[in-house]
Amino acid sequence: YNERESLFIILNFAAQYFKGLLHEHEEGKSIGLSYFKERGFSNNTIEEFDLGYSLNEWDGFLKAAKKAGHSEELLEKAGLIIKKEDKTYDRFRNRVIFPIHSVAGKPIAFGARILINDKKQPKYINSPETEVYHKSDVLYGIAQAKQHIRTLENCYLVEGYTDVISLHQSGVKNVVASSGTSLTTNQIRLISRYSENITVLFDGDAAGIKASLRGIDLILEGGLNVKVVLFPDGEDPDSYSRKMGDEEFSSYLKNNATDFIRFKSDLLLEETKKDPIKKAETIQDIVRSIAKIPNPVKRAIYIKECSNILEIDEALLITEQNKILLREK
Ligand code: UTP
Ligand code: MN
Ligand code: MN
Ligand code: MN
Ligand code: MN
Repeated sequence: YNERESLFIILNFAAQYFKGLLHEHEEGKSIGLSYFKERGFSNNTIEEFDLGYSLNEWDGFLKAAKKAGHSEELLEKAGLIIKKEDKTYDRFRNRVIFPIHSVAGKPIAFGARILINDKKQPKYINSPETEVYHKSDVLYGIAQAKQHIRTLENCYLVEGYTDVISLHQSGVKNVVASSGTSLTTNQIRLISRYSENITVLFDGDAAGIKASLRGIDLILEGGLNVKVVLFPDGEDPDSYSRKMGDEEFSSYLKNNATDFIRFKSDLLLEETKKDPIKKAETIQDIVRSIAKIPNPVKRAIYIKECSNILEIDEALLITEQNKILLREK
């Protein structure tokens, strides 16, 4: 085997190991499995996402992996263990495990959640960058979602692991997560293999809204169509889908998917009502987003819509847009 192949073998071993603990080990069952059950995850869901558990021990995984013949060197390269001068120990300990799969469905990394929120420790610990895991190229849930994205001709984009899983369980299966990083061009390119339509579902907090605005511009630059669904403050797609029934939730998504231009206009105009200088800046901002769209016909349609929503002369908006386009050439 070359090194990449060996890493895949080790990562697969690790995924099986964590999964085994969740289903067969007393600690895994009483702590890990009950955690997932309390979050409302069904057995099917736990199986489909290969969820697991890591023991409350320094080197439980390390020992098992060495016994199975894997070298410390490769275990470290796979991001699974940490080597300090005098000690070597497991990266993931006393957490529930979310394997991150490649498009083809092979485990390439892990996200690991703490069991009880604690300000002193990070909520999630994730695999580092490795030879087979480049975070900015990966979307959590893509292996489970790809066919559904293609069939439904739309991809829902969420922030977190549990958002993907809860939506999938509630029947919304065309969903992937950027997993806490801001969306990248490569992630958008990956979605575009399956569909040109993205609906962004970000958390209903200030950080979520900010991330969605940045994401929208990147999606537009990639030539894809983008809609946005906002959730009430303090809710994320996972919490909200569990609060509502499956039917109600999927109608919420359908009824609240707003075209980006309307989303941005509403949001920005809300902040800048009655202030003409700020309104002018807002319009500039929206025109700048439209100018990112590669397709001139789509740009023209959006300019027209923008003119209607904001009650500004279309010709003026076109002039503004052309200035931006010339500056960027
Ligand atoms: P959130 O803080 O919204 O977490 O971060 P969440 O997904 O809703 O998780 P639960 O419901 O509390 O369990 C969104 C995503 O950001 C990444 C994770 O991928 C998470 O799913 N993240 C968050 C981290 O990598 N590390 C962290 O400490 C927090
Ligand atoms: Mn499926
Ligand atoms: Mn958040
Ligand atoms: Mn969240
Ligand atoms: Mn959440």
